[in-house]
Amino acid sequence: MIDRIVNAVADNEEPQEVEFEVTLRPKDFQSYIGQERLKQNIKLAITAAQKRGEPLDHILLHGPPGLGKTTMASVIAHEMGAQIRITSGPAIERAGDLASLLTNLENGDILFIDEIHRLNRTVEEVLYAAMEDFQLDIMIGKGPSARSLRLDLPKFTIIGATTRAGSLAAPLRDRFGLIHRLEFYTPAEIEQIIERAARILQIRIKKPAAQELAKRSRLTPRIANRLLKRVRDYADVNGDGIIDMTINQQALKLLDIDELGLDSADRGLLEAILNNYNGGPVGLETLAALTAEERGTIEELYEPYLLQIGLLERTPKGRKLTPKAYRYLNKQPKRKNQSSFF
Ligand code: ADE
Repeated sequence: MIDRIVNAVADNEEPQEVEFEVTLRPKDFQSYIGQERLKQNIKLAITAAQKRGEPLDHILLHGPPGLGKTTMASVIAHEMGAQIRITSGPAIERAGDLASLLTNLENGDILFIDEIHRLNRTVEEVLYAAMEDFQLDIMIGKGPSARSLRLDLPKFTIIGATTRAGSLAAPLRDRFGLIHRLEFYTPAEIEQIIERAARILQIRIKKPAAQELAKRSRLTPRIANRLLKRVRDYADVNGDGIIDMTINQQALKLLDIDELGLDSADRGLLEAILNNYNGGPVGLETLAALTAEERGTIEELYEPYLLQIGLLERTPKGRKLTPKAYRYLNKQPKRKNQSSFF
């Protein structure tokens, strides 16, 4: 699963590709395309904080992978003229790790914690006290001679990112002054992102091809940029380097990505619901067993886009195909009270 080209999770690409990612990342609000409401809210918070000479309130960004949470955090740091340190929930194993991160910050610095829902309980508790009071209580020593020490911390800002806002402990969630969901982009925004990336990487792509690529990028910039690079490879090897509709179609066929941006794994999921559960509803656990995928993978990677484009529906009884999904699979929707005599 993890090697799917339409996987929106950041992968450990070759160093050269990481460099590409860095240069493709917009640095400021001006070059950040989309997420207009989020940008407006954050711009307001930044201006107000700067006017008062205060650090920015803590910010929680949530939403499906690949929509630009890390990029948004670095844009915010840039706009605040602040330094940003980047870490992740699983990387902070002990309270001591957190203490060393926090005590090394300066006033106004931003600490970005990716996958913040994966912090362990002990670290989480130390963190929310620190977020609230800019103080750190740590225990020194063990047993009867143990004593607690209180350290004053600089006035920092935490930007937390998560694909699962629901998994965050309520006391931690409550410490964030701004909580925002990153939404899927519109096809027009993805097209602009593709055109921008093509300019930066000096890729020649015809307008209709950029439009078509945008339609197949699951409304997700990370996927759009990855597909653009793969289609560029195809154009360089099989054509004259220019991406037009023909090259685009051939390259995407080779990548097994259809008109909606779905690959065989997505189709397999939809077909599993159709063939084994007559279109659903089917519970998430059953679906995970049926497709040999983890529950979290289905919830975080497959479902958000399938729900967004209206192929899948979440009901109290489980996941269900929509009439659009039946049309997509070239099947007749089942009729209510349909009975079988044979
Ligand atoms: N590259 C990836 N995401 C982007 C965005 N939101 N705006 C501009 N370029 C991007």
